[in-house]
Amino acid sequence: MSEHYYITTPIYYINDVPHIGHAYTTCAADVMARYKRTCGCEVFFLTGVDEHGQKAQKSALEQGVTPQELADRMLPAFVDLWKLLNITNTGFIRTTDEAHKKTVQRLFQKLYEKGDVYLGEYEDWYCIPCESYFTELQLKNGKCPDCGRAVERLKEETYFFRMSRYGERLLRYFEERKTFVMPEARYNEAASFLKAGLRDLSITRTTFNWGIPVPGNPAHVVYVWFDALANYLTGAGFLSDMDRFERFWPADAHLIGKDILRFHAVYWPSFLMAADLPLPKRIFAHGWWTVEGQKMSKSLGNVVDPFEVANTYGVDEFRFFLFREAPFGMDADFSRDAVVARINGDLANDYGNLVSRSANMIGKFLAGTLTTPGEPGGTDAALREGTENLIAEYRKEMNDFGFYKALNAVFELTAILNRYIDAEAPWKLARENPARLSTVLYNVWNGVRVSTLLLYPFMPSKTARAWKALGINRDIEKAAFDEEKSFYLAADLSPIDKIAPLFPRRET
Ligand code: MSP
Repeated sequence: MSEHYYITTPIYYINDVPHIGHAYTTCAADVMARYKRTCGCEVFFLTGVDEHGQKAQKSALEQGVTPQELADRMLPAFVDLWKLLNITNTGFIRTTDEAHKKTVQRLFQKLYEKGDVYLGEYEDWYCIPCESYFTELQLKNGKCPDCGRAVERLKEETYFFRMSRYGERLLRYFEERKTFVMPEARYNEAASFLKAGLRDLSITRTTFNWGIPVPGNPAHVVYVWFDALANYLTGAGFLSDMDRFERFWPADAHLIGKDILRFHAVYWPSFLMAADLPLPKRIFAHGWWTVEGQKMSKSLGNVVDPFEVANTYGVDEFRFFLFREAPFGMDADFSRDAVVARINGDLANDYGNLVSRSANMIGKFLAGTLTTPGEPGGTDAALREGTENLIAEYRKEMNDFGFYKALNAVFELTAILNRYIDAEAPWKLARENPARLSTVLYNVWNGVRVSTLLLYPFMPSKTARAWKALGINRDIEKAAFDEEKSFYLAADLSPIDKIAPLFPRRET
């Protein structure tokens, strides 16, 4: 039976159009989903939208529509972007889905019956954009400590979740699983939050009504984060398809941005503990994109539109850039010059050129046909060892979301291959030693094939083209890592010949 892998993105607020930050997490989840499929896993990949909450209600009001109309109007922007970016999600959730309402109400009910939810009163400072309460002490210069905007004094009757009951247990859980939250800096951040002690959490609101009603007390709607986090259960089939749920829960990875760490690494695990449900295996928080060194913001007018960038530079080029530019987990800086430099350097000069150069030589010197390689000679053994080591490194990194280092391994492989070609000089062998020539070109072909397979999760379309150019008739989407042992003999290759450049060079 194949292994199961369940990966999620945050569900995105629909009060605004998607930007590079949304594209980042969703592309990261797609890279992982595609990689895991090549490893033979059955993958469930969930993304979606977060439609409820005061912020959405306020936006709708300002635009003179109902919150549901606003959500319906904004939804296509997300759906279209995922289509454009070649995202292979297998689930898509809207928090207004009926099935989700059932999940949230069931979860709420369960915690209530357990005595982990109780009715009380709440008064504190509230930040609407962050949908969060803060104490006087937590404020920074009287403003929201997370986003720096103005806060309002709010007092309301509310249901509390006894989060204080779960702090100790969760801390022990953290101590036993040092990779529960990654990267390490985020683990430490969440752990110190826990060590400071948890207060009970207000999980309902009465000051607006755009949300899921509390079972038995519809004057309250469920707090948007309680609602939103539960999407990971609904999406996996909780209550609606328990068979699927049992197969996929707990999630293997929740991918998030660093700003929503506390909700995922502290609140969510405590809700799950209270509900007697297993905790996700990993929470990975990535960094933030700045734009030419500045914070990205509407007021600065520098928000990066992923549609525009992908349409200008290419979908695969954009996806690749996101993970090649900076380690996943660290902050990164976007600029058009940086995108162009990656395209011209890594893609055109390096990988793309290697594919063309190899296909060309096989076309020219071997009339496009590879044959069984002969006995190893020259630097063959070193090439093989180097390739196998780099594949192992790539896999180790990919399994831990080390996309940046995984890509480094691929480019080390292309460098090794270029050195191999220079050392073995096929153009000389063509005159002097045809038997050795076909072995050398076979080895080159094989190395390019491996590089292509390793790049596939990042650039599914361009690698599919390269795969074809290498004469391989099987679908790269179905290429299985374990069957594609690093060195093997291909059967049924189509003739290999010159190809048009995969990555045309760009002007800065
Ligand atoms: N709706 C909540 C998530 C609920 S998940 C149960 C939410 N939505 S959001 O649309 O505001 O943000 C979604 C994601 O975008 C977050 O992970 C956030 O980190 C990410 N980003 C927002 N700006 C970003 C950058 N400038 N760079 C990278 N990611 C950024 O939060």
